[in-house]
Amino acid sequence: MCEIIFCRIFLGFPVLLWMAGGPTHATCPIELNPPRLVVKYGDSVSVNCSTSATDHEGMGWEATFGGTGLEKVNFVIWNVENLTDWTIQPKCYLTPNEGEQCSEMFPVILYKTPDNVSVSSQSISGPMVEGTEYQLQCDIRNVAPLQSLVVRWYKGNETVKTQTFNDSTRNPEDVSSTFNITPRRFEDEVKYRCEAELDLGPLPSVISSQTLNFAVYFPPQNILELRDTEVDVGSPTGLNCSSNGNPRPEYSWTYHRAPNVKLKNDDGGSLLTIEQATGENIGYYICHASNTLGKASKKARVSVRGAEPVCPIKLIPESVVVEYGSPISVSCSNTTSVEEIYWTTGPEVVNDTTWSVLELLDWDIRPGCKATFQGIGRCSKPLHITVYKIPDNVSISVLRHSGPMVEGTEYQLQCDIQSIAPLRNLVVKWYKGNEPLDNVTYSNVSKIPEDVSPTLMIIPSRDDDGAQYRCRAELDLRPEGPQHTVTSKPLSLTVHYKPRINASRLPLRMPVFRGYPEELVCEAEGYPQPRIQWLYDPAKHVSEAGGNLTVFEAGLYNCTATNDVETSFIVVEVVLNEDYLPLIAGFVAFMVVVISVIFVFIYSIYYKNTKMGRYSLKKAKLSSTPNGNVAQNGGLDTPLPMTKLSQPNI
Ligand SMILES: *[C@@H]1O[C@H](CO)[C@@H](O)[C@H](O)[C@H]1NC(C)=O
Ligand SMILES: *[C@@H]1O[C@H](CO)[C@@H](O)[C@H](O)[C@H]1NC(C)=O
Ligand SMILES: *[C@@H]1O[C@H](CO)[C@@H](O)[C@H](O)[C@H]1NC(C)=O
Ligand SMILES: *[C@@H]1O[C@H](CO)[C@@H](O)[C@H](O)[C@H]1NC(C)=O
Ligand SMILES: *[C@@H]1O[C@H](CO)[C@@H](O)[C@H](O)[C@H]1NC(C)=O
Ligand SMILES: *[C@@H]1O[C@H](CO)[C@@H](O)[C@H](O)[C@H]1NC(C)=O
Ligand SMILES: *[C@@H]1O[C@H](CO)[C@@H](O)[C@H](O)[C@H]1NC(C)=O
Ligand SMILES: *[C@@H]1O[C@H](CO)[C@@H](O)[C@H](O)[C@H]1NC(C)=O
Ligand SMILES: *[C@@H]1O[C@H](CO)[C@@H](O)[C@H](O)[C@H]1NC(C)=O
Ligand SMILES: *[C@@H]1O[C@H](CO)[C@@H](O)[C@H](O)[C@H]1NC(C)=O
Ligand SMILES: *[C@@H]1O[C@H](CO)[C@@H](O)[C@H](O)[C@H]1NC(C)=O
Ligand SMILES: *[C@@H]1O[C@H](CO)[C@@H](O)[C@H](O)[C@H]1NC(C)=O
Repeated sequence: MCEIIFCRIFLGFPVLLWMAGGPTHATCPIELNPPRLVVKYGDSVSVNCSTSATDHEGMGWEATFGGTGLEKVNFVIWNVENLTDWTIQPKCYLTPNEGEQCSEMFPVILYKTPDNVSVSSQSISGPMVEGTEYQLQCDIRNVAPLQSLVVRWYKGNETVKTQTFNDSTRNPEDVSSTFNITPRRFEDEVKYRCEAELDLGPLPSVISSQTLNFAVYFPPQNILELRDTEVDVGSPTGLNCSSNGNPRPEYSWTYHRAPNVKLKNDDGGSLLTIEQATGENIGYYICHASNTLGKASKKARVSVRGAEPVCPIKLIPESVVVEYGSPISVSCSNTTSVEEIYWTTGPEVVNDTTWSVLELLDWDIRPGCKATFQGIGRCSKPLHITVYKIPDNVSISVLRHSGPMVEGTEYQLQCDIQSIAPLRNLVVKWYKGNEPLDNVTYSNVSKIPEDVSPTLMIIPSRDDDGAQYRCRAELDLRPEGPQHTVTSKPLSLTVHYKPRINASRLPLRMPVFRGYPEELVCEAEGYPQPRIQWLYDPAKHVSEAGGNLTVFEAGLYNCTATNDVETSFIVVEVVLNEDYLPLIAGFVAFMVVVISVIFVFIYSIYYKNTKMGRYSLKKAKLSSTPNGNVAQNGGLDTPLPMTKLSQPNI
């Protein structure tokens, strides 16, 4: 504790005199001056004992120190340089001429101011705790006389206790005085001390102890600053929590929705700031102030203007996808202090945090969890539930038509999907073979199962014969649920198409020479296989074999190809040309003659030049008979010189 001692000694003079108003002794005619003394231990004393009597045998002092003999004087002085006898009782006596000796005791009080006055509290070490009783002790060492000692206790500058000592001891003693205190909060600043006063007359001697300072520990008090606040959405706000307490309380914050999560505040201080208020901030914030002795907490409500409170109900799972007739179980949990929590499914109330159904047989069920929270009030959370049903049957058919289709005609394919729910999760996909054609979706919000029959318009071409069409109902319930796919059986198309006559083999106009018949080839493709038929004037001379018609005469020849779908035809006009063959033959004969003459001429020149020499075997070798070279060519008897090349020489 505090060891500092404040000692103030108000001792103006070493010896205090105090005069009595001239008391004369009737019995003993002596006068003591001064009549009594208070002397500081070790100081000198000098007392005049005088008498008014002139007729006496003598007078003197009787004392353990400074005594005198019997002297025949009018006054005698008792003088001690250094009075150190605590119990001294000096006496002045007078022996008269007649009568008995008389004497008078001189009252002298030795005093000593305390060596030390100190205050302590032995019962504690460390800070005091509010409400506990402690004993303070004031030790006064080596003081005399105790009769004159007055001990005063001070709390601040106010006297709280005064103690005197009923003890006749004249020797110096160590004494102590105790004082019980029960400190209250905020008494940290209150200073206790004691004072020892020797009440010896008009000039008291006072010695004060040191001041005793101590901390008073107390738990945090009621939190005062914290108030409910209202803030605009998006704006900042702060909650100010301040509490008294010693040691200084530490603060922490919790939000009623998450009572176990400590919120961050400014470096452990008492201020909690919300930078941008949202609906999440609506509710109670609790400030906790704590120190080693205890804790206090207070809540304040935050309202956010323009924001809806977030309902703290948590559904597990948050949304469900369930097949009609299947079991379902959803639980509802409170994240904050809840007063009441239960499920409702329309009019029915399920007083439990879990809603379970073994067989869900309600297409339009609307379950929800309702709760009443402290700080928020009543709120509810609906369960997002999707009840689905896989279609009973998916089949494909041709609308208003049966049998084979005809190329180029419009048809409607229909996909019949029976009893599916919900439609808004359905995608109908059309396929031709594996090639996707079209997707059909529904915006119907109905929850009950329905039949749907989407159609697909097709205009088949001849290539589509044998094509397989399918439709597929995809019930896509992802991500919470499964994806179910039901595909129809394939629909095979039979496509009939009209005959197409191969025009590349059948010219529209065909010349024919007299005597030279021409063949007209009529080919056609179509489905079913077309029947080929030539139409012409029956008088014409023709020969017909399958689709091939051999014509001899001019005329119109009508090739028809017929099947179920249509009859196609191409009309060939056969024209008879003049017979230019004799002319051509004559011209050819003439040209042969001319060429022959030229050839003979060249040959004759060549022969003259070479008749004396040998035949070159390397050159073309003529036959042994030159005349044998004349080719007998048909009816033309024109001899043509021909060079016959001997085969090996080539
Ligand atoms: C003592 O007292 C007497 C009578 O009053 C006086 O005459 C005398 O001078 C005194 N002596 C001293 C030393 O003061
Ligand atoms: C007085 O006497 C005491 C003890 O006898 C001694 O210690 C002290 O020094 C003396 N003082 C004077 C001033 O003579
Ligand atoms: C007085 O007493 C206290 C406690 O015993 C001590 O600590 C202090 O030093 C003393 N002061 C003096 C002046 O002797
Ligand atoms: C005690 O001290 C205070 C200020 O320190 C003063 O106002 C008050 O008057 C004092 N009381 C007494 C009884 O001295
Ligand atoms: C002081 O002591 C005396 C005897 O020792 C007694 O008669 C008296 O009552 C006491 N006074 C107090 C205040 O205790
Ligand atoms: C919080 O309260 C304390 C004590 O009243 C005050 O000093 C301080 O300025 C307040 N802070 C805010 C942000 O209101
Ligand atoms: C939810 O409420 C129950 C009482 O209804 C309570 O025991 C439990 O602690 C609460 N849970 C939370 C996270 O507050
Ligand atoms: C639900 O049950 C609890 C006790 O199990 C009861 O206190 C409460 O009143 C019930 N609530 C309803 C709406 O039935
Ligand atoms: C599905 O529907 C088609 C056409 O209505 C029918 O032929 C077929 O038998 C049905 N299949 C089932 C499994 O009901
Ligand atoms: C149909 O949907 C599938 C995906 O599911 C997509 O790949 C395809 O392109 C869509 N087809 C049409 C015609 O929209
Ligand atoms: C018709 O003529 C074509 C080609 O000239 C030939 O390939 C085909 O066999 C003929 N058809 C008949 C039936 O003779
Ligand atoms: C060719 O025959 C078809 C089928 O009999 C007929 O419709 C068409 O008119 C005929 N064409 C001509 C040019 O006679």
